[in-house]
Amino acid sequence: MKIGIVGATGLVGRTMIQLLHERSIGVSQLDLFASERSVGISIPFSDQRIPVQMLSQDALTQPYDFLFFSAGSEIARKYAPIGAEHTPIVIDNSSAFRKDPQVPLIVPEVNGLLLNHYHGIVANPNCSTIQMVLGISQVHKEWGIEEVVVVTFQSVSGAGNKGILELRAQQQGTLEHEHFPNLIHENVIPVIGDPQDDGYTTEERKMIDETRTILNDSNIRIFPTCVRVPVVFGHSEAVFVRVSTPIASEREIARAIDRTLHIQRSDGYHTPLEFAGSDRTGISRLRLVGPRELFMWIVADNVRVGAATNALRIMEYVLQNLGGNQLPPK
Ligand code: A2P
Repeated sequence: MKIGIVGATGLVGRTMIQLLHERSIGVSQLDLFASERSVGISIPFSDQRIPVQMLSQDALTQPYDFLFFSAGSEIARKYAPIGAEHTPIVIDNSSAFRKDPQVPLIVPEVNGLLLNHYHGIVANPNCSTIQMVLGISQVHKEWGIEEVVVVTFQSVSGAGNKGILELRAQQQGTLEHEHFPNLIHENVIPVIGDPQDDGYTTEERKMIDETRTILNDSNIRIFPTCVRVPVVFGHSEAVFVRVSTPIASEREIARAIDRTLHIQRSDGYHTPLEFAGSDRTGISRLRLVGPRELFMWIVADNVRVGAATNALRIMEYVLQNLGGNQLPPK
């Protein structure tokens, strides 16, 4: 298979390269693209080192089997449509197309069916949204979710390599901060993204809009508070859910959640450190606190489950369930 990755030098881009190797995906050609700054760098893949090329429109006019973008919204808006003219599936990790009604927003375990007969750009959701919908989608299917109140505990790697470097520098004693609005070392910051007029931040707004889109239900009321914590890898979420149909027991919820692929459920509790480097989403602290009210604690590696792994799972879904991906004849 011919695969191209735009944004190959970033945290998510590099993780996708590693995952292609780990998951033994038959890659005959892997082209890596980044900005002019990265020309001269090469990145290990299997037993080779692949040179990074400067992204250009011309480079994307050759057909790939799959093209991945993880280079931010601006680059995606400019280049992903060009790629999609020549490559049947272009998976974009940015928020550029997530609100476009023509572009499916996909967590394959939940709404992969939307990929049936689809060609074009596929949007990878926001990291906090992916792990939350993995936790609550079966609950929605069986009992109908009316309301979600969620507080997130998001790691610094959610801001890319620069987020990790900023925490590390502060751990060494610097009091400077650039990428986070406050010191993050020995602190928590209850703002991620930009504040909006409605009181939510852009990150919180993504959780509201994207969860409704993926669960295909615009009536669900969602109240998030997104918080940055000094954890390197792994987002955690305390989630309260109110459903419309009474639930008989905690065991019933556990059984429903266990039907979702790639979930690891525990009767004890999970921490993000245990899930760093894992492709599973951890569900624990499950509590039925009223006939229609429950709590759960959801943990996942935000760079993997929340970005790179979800992107690769979109590709695998197309290959395994939909019998490959040929562009329709023009
Ligand atoms: P580069 O390393 O050359 O700047 P992250 O989200 O971890 O910051 O990564 C962003 C990714 O997007 C990097 O691979 C970065 O490449 C890439 N990128 C940023 N700006 C451009 C650009 N103008 N053209 C191509 N790739 C870009």
